[in-house]
Amino acid sequence: MDIAREVKDLLERNRRITDGYQYTIPSEEHYPYQWLWDSCFHAIILAQYDPASARAELRALLSKQFKDGMVPHIIYWTPGILHLFRWGVEGTSSLTQPPMIAYAAWEVHRRSPDKAFLESIYPALLAYYRFLVEKRDPRDHHLIGIINPDESGEDNSPRFDAPLLAAHDISFKDHLALRTKLVEENTACNFDAELCMRKYFWVKDVLFNTVMVENLRSLGHIASFLKHEDGEHFATMHAELIAGAMREYLFADGVYWSAMGADYTPLRVATWAHFAPLFAGLYSPEEAETLVRGQLLNPETFYAPFGIRTVPKQEKAYRAEGYGGGFSWRGPVWMAPHWFIHRGLLRYGYKKEAADIRDKSAALLELSGFRECFNPETGEGQGAHGFTWGALVLDMRDE
Ligand code: GLC
Repeated sequence: MDIAREVKDLLERNRRITDGYQYTIPSEEHYPYQWLWDSCFHAIILAQYDPASARAELRALLSKQFKDGMVPHIIYWTPGILHLFRWGVEGTSSLTQPPMIAYAAWEVHRRSPDKAFLESIYPALLAYYRFLVEKRDPRDHHLIGIINPDESGEDNSPRFDAPLLAAHDISFKDHLALRTKLVEENTACNFDAELCMRKYFWVKDVLFNTVMVENLRSLGHIASFLKHEDGEHFATMHAELIAGAMREYLFADGVYWSAMGADYTPLRVATWAHFAPLFAGLYSPEEAETLVRGQLLNPETFYAPFGIRTVPKQEKAYRAEGYGGGFSWRGPVWMAPHWFIHRGLLRYGYKKEAADIRDKSAALLELSGFRECFNPETGEGQGAHGFTWGALVLDMRDE
């Protein structure tokens, strides 16, 4: 398979233009709108061969920013098939997603410098990260809270079972009912973070906070490049404050765990999020070595024949299959986690191990095509077809 060719074709097929804004939908079949972190992944890939489209993608994503700085996780550009969750406000959702925007913007600029573009989106970027720091951390403890599992990007990950009061073997239908109830509760508290977190769902997620740290650093680079000293100070200071708070509140037994509530109750369900902090360099080299050898490359836990399980085999919640062939974050391999892990491994100098992740990712595309996720034991594709995340393989390079 000529992966580069297939990626270009798929991103072109999934390209849409509405009201003058150009964006890419994750999958025609299931996801006919614009999603936040998906668009950041698209921009990172497009930056390699079509920087104008990469910039357009980010511009479209920021076009529906709320007055308070929030960037919604879905923009319903056109009426579509997905009526399941209409998270609140007409036209967009009222939730957010892992804040990869500054990272993507800096990546686009790195490959194709464009100061005017950075200048044009800088106020929106700063407002978004300020919103997260101020509104999502009401107690000023330097950990960003999420008010719904969908904000983590991993909708039904078992690390949210405890806050959702879900059993480890919950059925798809029951899980959906719990999430629907939470969406109703989020609507009842008007998506106001402080209120929603106090009353319903409040998780300090490892992946979300890791992404925040690395993106604040990217924002710092952007601000420094544009000579916005205040913004640079804000970004670099909060990146380190969050990294410090993660160490203080989320680190135990050699790894980072998400936590919930006002008292930081640890959510002791192992998931691939243990590896996410490698992406932001939050483990010491010794800790990384123990984690990589003992967990990432351990066939009894995460290391499967077809990639890294999102939930390790020893967890009660582990399920290689998606529900009824659909998607699931309870075990299947996903390309975005592979991309984060690949970047993290390179950061620590694990070149051979990173190349292995890339090879396994490419092999999945060969075997099953551009599917939403994959059975880790058999490589069988699950969920949506024509799903764009396979494009991330193009960014898994040793550079
Ligand atoms: C699924 C994924 C989420 C993604 C969305 C659109 O809901 O869990 O992370 O953003 O699809 O691709």
